[in-house]
Amino acid sequence: MLKKLKKIEKNVLKVYEKNNPSIHFVLEDLKKFKQRKSNLENLIFNNLKFPKKMFAQSDLIDFGAGTGDTSISYNNWGANCTLVDMNQLALNRAMKVFKKLSKKNTKNKFVKASIFDNKINNKKYDIVSSIGVIHHTADPSLALKRISKFVKNDGYLILGCATNEGFFQRNLQRLIISKFADFDNHEEIERIALELFSENLYRGKKFGGRSIKAIIHDTYINPKIKGISFNEILKSLGKGFDYYSSAPDVNIIKSFDSPLSYKENIFSKFQNLTAVSKILMMSNSDHIKNKYNLANKKLQKIFNLNLNLTNNISDFNKSKKVDLKKFRYDLKKYKSKFSKITLINYIFDEHKIFIYELEKLILNLDKYSLKEMKKYINSCKILFKKSGGLGNNYYIFKRNL
Ligand SMILES: C[S@@+](CC[C@H](N)C(=O)[O-])C[C@H]1O[C@@H](n2cnc3c(N)ncnc32)[C@H](O)[C@@H]1O
Repeated sequence: MLKKLKKIEKNVLKVYEKNNPSIHFVLEDLKKFKQRKSNLENLIFNNLKFPKKMFAQSDLIDFGAGTGDTSISYNNWGANCTLVDMNQLALNRAMKVFKKLSKKNTKNKFVKASIFDNKINNKKYDIVSSIGVIHHTADPSLALKRISKFVKNDGYLILGCATNEGFFQRNLQRLIISKFADFDNHEEIERIALELFSENLYRGKKFGGRSIKAIIHDTYINPKIKGISFNEILKSLGKGFDYYSSAPDVNIIKSFDSPLSYKENIFSKFQNLTAVSKILMMSNSDHIKNKYNLANKKLQKIFNLNLNLTNNISDFNKSKKVDLKKFRYDLKKYKSKFSKITLINYIFDEHKIFIYELEKLILNLDKYSLKEMKKYINSCKILFKKSGGLGNNYYIFKRNL
């Protein structure tokens, strides 16, 4: 196994040495630094609900820190950062990033090592981060076990990694590209990726801040992208960790019990719903957002009827009389309206189009010429639109022992 791990590591490193995947131009352009920081603030403070003050004077280790374009924000929020990466070229740039942009009175370290080496000291940290890394190893679960050992008791793990469903469309794109170019012919892959998937690539550049070339190398040329599911993550972390938050939220349905009593983990049972949305939503997010809004509007009727219904007995006390006839009437109306709302179908009807487009693609995968493939992809309404799936899922876990 170790041999396999090392072999993959070597191949991944080769790609990264040629074209670094983590440069967000924070060194060259102050505006881009601010943009990256603001994106991370939205992710961590708003979506993952992790307060900024947790970083103040904390000891933080970032595994697979790359060029430090993410770690520098942790530093600016007050963390003393240890950056670990197997790519010396990336760390060289990270040192420049920190020299120029780090907060005064912070202590930062740069360690060239692999997650799988035993080179890193045994120190424990308040915050351990690893974003966009473990799915590029031969064994994401083992990588996770390794990095989680560095979390202090009561400390936190910030994790960003791919799932197979989120990466489904990109894996499909890799498959398509492989029909027209050799995996080792990077120039040819770049050309074909741009020809077929320019919408995804330009969108990725606009919102993610990386160059098109870096995205192509990280997504289509990188030899290893192995997703890890939420359940596998929970299993690797074991009982020593509690789920804290995730983005996108793994729990669509949250209201089964009082928040005082429920443990978030139990709702991971509803992952199957989020798997559909991960494949799809990122492809057609505006459209789906509108559908949600429309569905929400329709639900207004249900909400009003619900209020009518519940008002029949609200604040019930001994001095209150209940009109049972009205109660029955309201219930009947509520039931009839509710049964007519096919909410799930309504929201997920794009999925039917997606499946149809996918079916046709698979049927013709070996038949289409590059020109025909391009024509077909351009004609699709859902498949490969917008960002084409979700690259990184983000999670925070808290160590409890
Ligand atoms: C996609 S980049 C992400 C960089 C950074 N975390 C960010 O958010 O921008 C992945 C990084 O992980 C590093 N990496 C991959 N496998 C590794 C391993 N086994 N040990 C240490 N670093 C690794 C690569 O060298 C690369 O810099």
